[in-house]
Amino acid sequence: MGIPPVTPSPIDKSPVVKHPVPLDLRIAQVDDRDAVRAFLGRLSPSTVRARYLQPSLKLAGPSGERELNRLLAANAAKHVVMLAVDGADVRGIGELFNQPIGRAELGLVVEDAFQGRGIGRALLRRLTRLALARGIRAFTGDMAHGNARAVALLQRTGRPLKTQVVSGGVQFTLVLQS
Ligand SMILES: CC(C)(COP(=O)(O)OP(=O)(O)OC[C@H]1O[C@@H](n2cnc3c(N)ncnc32)[C@H](O)[C@@H]1OP(=O)(O)O)[C@@H](O)C(=O)NCCC(=O)NCCS
Repeated sequence: MGIPPVTPSPIDKSPVVKHPVPLDLRIAQVDDRDAVRAFLGRLSPSTVRARYLQPSLKLAGPSGERELNRLLAANAAKHVVMLAVDGADVRGIGELFNQPIGRAELGLVVEDAFQGRGIGRALLRRLTRLALARGIRAFTGDMAHGNARAVALLQRTGRPLKTQVVSGGVQFTLVLQS
């Protein structure tokens, strides 16, 4: 299937690396609800597991609506929800949750058919910039054992990455500023 040509946007013209997908990166808004719902509905079970670490979570029906409510609840001071948008479609979501002592928990998910094209990296780069501007000095998070793509994404930032195996997964800390 062909990828449509890059359409520069008035919101964000920063290029996405590798095989480019037309992309704007912007903060989620309440009226993104339908596009975010459709995005969640396109995620494969393995991508949902990798993001949420809950084997039985299904993002359809009531649990999908709960997740939509969580993503679109306006609380900009504590929770940043960044969308990677390709025309009318959401292709990726990056989240930051403020934590104490200059940290933020990081969550990233990219639609299956668009993984490996630089969208995760673009989201991470934008969230890093935003975090540094807010005085956040480290990202923390959890991932499944063996999530090579997520590990590679974090390692390729060139920033110090600490991982710790815990029951049920791997906790990571990515140092943005020491
Ligand atoms: C992890 C995830 C967010 C990465 O986003 P992405 O858009 O697929 O990743 P990118 O295309 O930006 O690639 C970033 C780096 O990942 C690595 N990578 C890409 N494809 C890979 C693959 N198939 N295998 C291993 N590493 C890979 C590369 O190092 C790449 O850097 P490079 O382009 O400099 O080589 C995405 O794959 C995803 O949504 N996975 C499921 C959810 C998840 O695991 N979330 C992380 C836990 S919160």
